[in-house]
Amino acid sequence: MTTHPQIHSATSATMGLEGIVAAETVLSHVDGAAGRLIIRGHDLQDLAGWSFEGLIALLWQDLTPEPLAEDQIRAALGAARVQVFALVDPLLAATKSLSPVEALRLLLSALADESDVPHHVLAVAAVPVFAAAIARHRCGQSPVAPDAALGQAADFLRMLRGTPATAEAVRALDTYLVTVADHGLNASTFTARVIASTKAGLFSSVIGALCALKGPLHGGAPGPVLDMLDAIGEESQIRPWLMQKLARGERLMGFGHRIYRVRDPRADVLKGATAHLRHASNWIGFAEKVEAEALTLLAEKKPLRPIQTNVEFYTALVLEAVGFPPDSFTNVFAAGRMAGWTAHVLEQEANNRLIRPQSRYTGPMPAAA
Ligand code: COA
Repeated sequence: MTTHPQIHSATSATMGLEGIVAAETVLSHVDGAAGRLIIRGHDLQDLAGWSFEGLIALLWQDLTPEPLAEDQIRAALGAARVQVFALVDPLLAATKSLSPVEALRLLLSALADESDVPHHVLAVAAVPVFAAAIARHRCGQSPVAPDAALGQAADFLRMLRGTPATAEAVRALDTYLVTVADHGLNASTFTARVIASTKAGLFSSVIGALCALKGPLHGGAPGPVLDMLDAIGEESQIRPWLMQKLARGERLMGFGHRIYRVRDPRADVLKGATAHLRHASNWIGFAEKVEAEALTLLAEKKPLRPIQTNVEFYTALVLEAVGFPPDSFTNVFAAGRMAGWTAHVLEQEANNRLIRPQSRYTGPMPAAA
């Protein structure tokens, strides 16, 4: 078989496209060696006190037809939440045998391309409305209608619980949504850009992204951190439990990262968010002891490979403390990441070229005639 000279063969090193630059973006940059996440010129740590709407204004800047300030985004999202709520009731029954993330996928599929509300606004507004209704439906509770006057984080918690959330819970959820809103060309964001490049439209792009997020190697994982804490059970068991796990060659949940070789900056921001939630959590104090012991043991076992706390460890603690059931954690992740997905779709559409890489054929050639 002849190979075109301009086609670079995939090797084991590039099979996962590691190190390959597949897009240019002004949106975010992950510096794994320095432990930095930069969002449009700001270090993540400096965005920690921002509202989710403020972060969306930053991400969407120059990408939407009219510039939208934070308060305009807040109003537009509130109105859009009310609009998408009409879709919830007729579809909830069809989610009966689905997992929460599959149910979210189904509800997002009901967003119509013909809608006259900007699709990026509708998509961001829809996730908390759908995710809260799905979580309640699984407990036999009816959905709670949105309150357009509230911010996205406050209304998400109110629609989940049926009662207004405390200011500290809203602040913690805002911090979480900001922290996970964008993270370079991760698998789901890449998926969104590939679909956008075919001009399939924003809803198809973000639904595809959700399908990529669902996998346990991406966004389907924070629940196991709570399972690990639960399995350890008590303080006297922390060291022996972790040692046994590592001796069996198993992994400690919430530690290690493909890109970060130092501490994941998102873990620190979320750890900060837990400071005001200690009274609401079953786990935070205990989890800090588990984290300290795990880092000691991982450093002893892998002295040449830095394995640090990742974003999922503190994600689990924050989301549990503000009241989300563990099986809805991936949907809450999607509520935050939808800000990044929509921005990447808008950016791709503004300067589009069909994303169409090549593969290296390793199958047989037809027999010669
Ligand atoms: N616990 C114990 N050992 C770990 C580890 C962890 N959390 N993460 C990596 N390692 C070890 C591996 O066992 C491997 O050891 P070996 O070289 O002796 O085989 C080495 O570090 C490299 O592992 P690799 O899978 O190549 O690292 P990666 O950086 O590509 O993997 C993750 C990144 C996130 C997939 C990995 O760190 C992991 O599986 N973490 C645990 C799962 C997790 O936290 N998921 C998040 C949600 S809970």
